Amino acid sequence: MRIRKAVPTDLRAVADMSRKYEFETNRDWRAAISSKDSEMFLLVDGSVVVGFTGLIYNHWNETIQILDIFIRPEHRGHGLGLKLVSFLISRARAKRSDYRCLIAEAPSAGNMDEFYKKAGFRKCGYNDRYYSNDGKNIAFWMSMDLR
Ligand SMILES: CC(C)(COP(=O)(O)OP(=O)(O)OC[C@H]1O[C@@H](n2cnc3c(N)ncnc32)[C@H](O)[C@@H]1OP(=O)(O)O)[C@@H](O)C(=O)NCCC(=O)NCCS
Repeated sequence: MRIRKAVPTDLRAVADMSRKYEFETNRDWRAAISSKDSEMFLLVDGSVVVGFTGLIYNHWNETIQILDIFIRPEHRGHGLGLKLVSFLISRARAKRSDYRCLIAEAPSAGNMDEFYKKAGFRKCGYNDRYYSNDGKNIAFWMSMDLR
């Protein structure tokens, strides 16, 4: 298994996974892969895409935000999610002269704050209107200072 940067020809694989697993189906994956302010990475086993993630670069406030993290259900529970996050942390730290903090959004419904805590993040806030107005699934904001 290795992690590589996604290129425009990977759009179909990512969009197919998003549809198949009903994950972030409204996300503009083309922009995520091709925009100058973001990049996506694939976890691949040969030609099979096992998972994906990405980073969004916010120049205006010198932060980098994790843009989703997804591992195929049959590959979960083997440390691959943390492998992707560790890769993102290294990538973000390499850019610390331009960016001061790495941010992740963690849905409370998935206990994702616990996952990010295992990767070394701290909880720094929440938004109870991020996904819906009923307050049932809220977004925790997780952060890791880069400098
Ligand atoms: C979240 C996700 C990426 C984790 O991938 P994974 O490969 O199963 O994670 P890992 O095996 O690396 O887990 C590492 C640790 O985090 C824990 N963990 C994983 N997912 C967790 C979750 N949702 N809540 C709490 N803890 C979690 C694991 O138990 C493990 O702990 P341990 O080291 O003490 O055993 C995967 O479950 C997934 O793709 N989920 C669907 C997409 C999603 O919801 N993404 C988040 C929103 S963008």
